[in-house]
Amino acid sequence: MTSVPSTTFLLLLVTFLNFLYILSAKNAPFSMSFPLTSTTLSHNSSSKALFLSSLIATSHQTTNAKAMPRVPSLSYKSTFKYSMALIITLPIGTPPQNQQMVLDTGSQLSWIQCHKKIPKIPPPTTSFDPSLSSSFSVLPCSHPLCKPRIPDFTLPTSCDQNRLCHYSYFYADGTLAEGNLVREKITFSRSQTTPPLILGCATESGDAEGILGMNLGRFSFASQAKVQKFSYCVPIRQGNHTVKPIGTFYLGQNPNSRTFRYVNLLTFPQSQRMPNLDPLAYTIGMVGIKINGKKLNISERVFRPNAGGSGQTIVDSGTEYTFLVEEAYNKLREEIIRLAGRKLKKGYIYGDALDMCFDSQYRMEIERLIGDMTLQFENGVEILINKERMLDEVEGGIHCVGIGRSETLGIASNIIGNFHQQNLWVEFDLRNRRVGFGKGECSTQV
Ligand SMILES: *[C@@H]1O[C@H](CO)[C@@H](O)[C@H](O)[C@H]1NC(C)=O
Ligand SMILES: *[C@@H]1O[C@H](CO)[C@@H](O)[C@H](O)[C@H]1NC(C)=O
Ligand SMILES: *[C@@H]1O[C@H](CO)[C@@H](O)[C@H](O)[C@H]1NC(C)=O
Repeated sequence: MTSVPSTTFLLLLVTFLNFLYILSAKNAPFSMSFPLTSTTLSHNSSSKALFLSSLIATSHQTTNAKAMPRVPSLSYKSTFKYSMALIITLPIGTPPQNQQMVLDTGSQLSWIQCHKKIPKIPPPTTSFDPSLSSSFSVLPCSHPLCKPRIPDFTLPTSCDQNRLCHYSYFYADGTLAEGNLVREKITFSRSQTTPPLILGCATESGDAEGILGMNLGRFSFASQAKVQKFSYCVPIRQGNHTVKPIGTFYLGQNPNSRTFRYVNLLTFPQSQRMPNLDPLAYTIGMVGIKINGKKLNISERVFRPNAGGSGQTIVDSGTEYTFLVEEAYNKLREEIIRLAGRKLKKGYIYGDALDMCFDSQYRMEIERLIGDMTLQFENGVEILINKERMLDEVEGGIHCVGIGRSETLGIASNIIGNFHQQNLWVEFDLRNRRVGFGKGECSTQV
């Protein structure tokens, strides 16, 4: 009688150990690659993707629950009409159902869009149907994660009438996401399956995409699946959006990593109270910005967290543009105005955030005037932003420099967004607590 559960248990254990071995064995160069697209999200999910990381960053999660007080959310003023997000497709459940997920290194909990069972109304074909998966289970209310105000999530959870752990969540743009916390496996192949991971299963949401939370928190996909490292190469965006170039996402070893240069993650003592710090973000030491070869007169201090945690510089795949704190932004803007100010579209601000904009007819001239930009980090590591990647067409006939003021988002951090990670390998090496950058040719048009 007991043989059935114990067999199941054994099988689970074997699968689990097998998986741990696959993803974490020191000498086995585990490596699995997935196509990655840079995609305009549907209108409704748009501002969400832009805010995803910054929203979660306000929650001040910490692995040491008692050390950190909860900080009230900051207000968000900015709304973009759309946002570019990095999308990968993961096989979820048993048998696997392919789910599109927004890759977000700035947030923790992963979500899938679950099929809401309303008779006669067909679900969007992209959503996940739990009833078709044998490995799906809900998280019972008795689970420690289903306590109100648990430290790891911002999610207010409650026990619903079915004794399921229910969450409801307002995004910065006012949209509501709600659903249940569940456990589900990612089934890469017959022999490569994760143990059941805790995910959000969104039942009330019009979005097509889920979210793959990849930050340093212990409930991120990366942590739960014991991923040692992961990396991606963001394809060059095409101006006309008609072709969707495809980049690459790696779980595990990246065969190109020999050429990467690494910057150590900054770590923070948990005893220290830093209300504006997101301790779970990938924070690296930025040291300067060069425009057209000229180093801007910006104190390194503004790229580092101060006593209150303001000023950390994070690498975020879930934010589209780059955002700089006031002092850095002002110096950058001053230089760009000096170089190209005559052509500036005065008084024009895109999405309350981008205020260095030009009529598209001047694009080539502006690119030539501004030149390349270099982001400089510790250890001599640099990200070169080619002049052709300085401007983004934000609406018909208008191009803006893809850099905004952090304050307009209501945040106190510097964020390197995915717009400035094009044609670049970015590796998050969790085992060695560092981030690597390497030149990439990311677009393989299929
Ligand atoms: C998007 O939002 C609008 C208004 O909030 C709503 O009417 C529309 O049905 C939504 N679209 C989708 C695809 O959910
Ligand atoms: C869009 O851009 C691609 C690549 O630059 C080009 O091949 C294609 O012809 C363009 N399509 C249109 C409709 O302009
Ligand atoms: C650099 O900036 C600081 C403070 O903003 C200023 O005091 C200093 O004079 C500047 N140095 C140069 C060379 O412009």
